[in-house]
Amino acid sequence: MAFKTLNDLGDVAGKVALIRVDLNVPYADGRVSDDMRLRAIIPTVRELANRHAKILLLAHFGRPKGAKHSEMSLSMIVDPLQRLLEQEIMFVPEIYGPVVAQSIDILGNGDVAVLENTRFYPGEEENDPELAAAVAAHGDFYVNDAFSAAHRAHMSTEGLAHILPAYAGRSMEAELKALEAALGNPRHPVAAVVGGAKVSTKLDVLTNLVTKVDHLIIGGGMANTFLAARGIDVGNSLCEHDLADTALAILDAAHAANCTVHLPYDAVTAREFRANPPVRTVNVHEVAADEMILDVGPAAVEALADVLKICRTLVWNGPLGAFEIPPFDAATVALARTAAALTKEGSLVSVAGGGDTVAALAHAGVAQDFSFVSTAGGAFLEWMEGKPLPGVLALG
Ligand code: 3PG
Repeated sequence: MAFKTLNDLGDVAGKVALIRVDLNVPYADGRVSDDMRLRAIIPTVRELANRHAKILLLAHFGRPKGAKHSEMSLSMIVDPLQRLLEQEIMFVPEIYGPVVAQSIDILGNGDVAVLENTRFYPGEEENDPELAAAVAAHGDFYVNDAFSAAHRAHMSTEGLAHILPAYAGRSMEAELKALEAALGNPRHPVAAVVGGAKVSTKLDVLTNLVTKVDHLIIGGGMANTFLAARGIDVGNSLCEHDLADTALAILDAAHAANCTVHLPYDAVTAREFRANPPVRTVNVHEVAADEMILDVGPAAVEALADVLKICRTLVWNGPLGAFEIPPFDAATVALARTAAALTKEGSLVSVAGGGDTVAALAHAGVAQDFSFVSTAGGAFLEWMEGKPLPGVLALG
């Protein structure tokens, strides 16, 4: 899809830029525990500040459902953000009206302000045209740098793009480019790793991927559902037995589309779900009735590494095992390191996304070695499902 970027903007000195960013970061006890989303928007903000625009940042925080909740005020994010930006940031406790107009008068060229949480206003999630018009009245142009909120058709992610000249910010641009290289127009063979607890949360992802990728690697609890559907006794493992027919239909669709599905053939099992319990590494046909499969086994991991070696593109969403609890992080860590090494060698383009996935790659110490790690959770999943993202479409 063609969209305008900051390269298409002319002289913006003294103009007011309304930039939609994603400041929805994990925050507790006065601290942002993961500032990836804050760091992602710095290039756009800095570039427009250097080009002497007056910058108003629009974002949501949490789910206040149209009411003001002081514990979800974006005032909390100003400090962490100005430290990263290395520039003072003004906080404006409204998103439109006289207070915003006065703040713009005070801002010098190149100055930055954060407006209050857009979701304090019911019109945000309703994508209310009147609210969009009131907010748009303050800006000369609109930039969307929040790919991770682009699956929401809200006033600040979608509505504004129809009123003001709209541009993709640098982070949005990088996300769209990486995703295009991963599934839009990728180099084949393409592999996808899909993990996580339940098939039910990723049905649409799996159904879409079998038509797009050459190798689908299924891990995590959802692999158990596929194994059980194939008649394997998975003992006490997490398993959605009622989805057996759905799992078989996905396997059939994969077969018809020439997509090879890789399920684990060995597994690490335990009787208790806690750190470092007694474990067994067994063939998946040998899981005892009182055991749980908690990770992909080492033989399967080696085979999966061989699959990645013949692939040119990888999309990764979800861990292969219960990676938060040792030793069930082993398969995820090993395969992530293989993917990172192949990426460094230049034989693989690797794109990963989704909250757990980013945490898992960071745990493996390889997040920086992937070609691209998305800032998005829900938006990344919807993109993997093949759904159009309203915030992206509105830029077209
Ligand atoms: C996210 O955290 O994935 C985005 O900021 C979107 O938030 P939401 O799921 O509350 O819309």
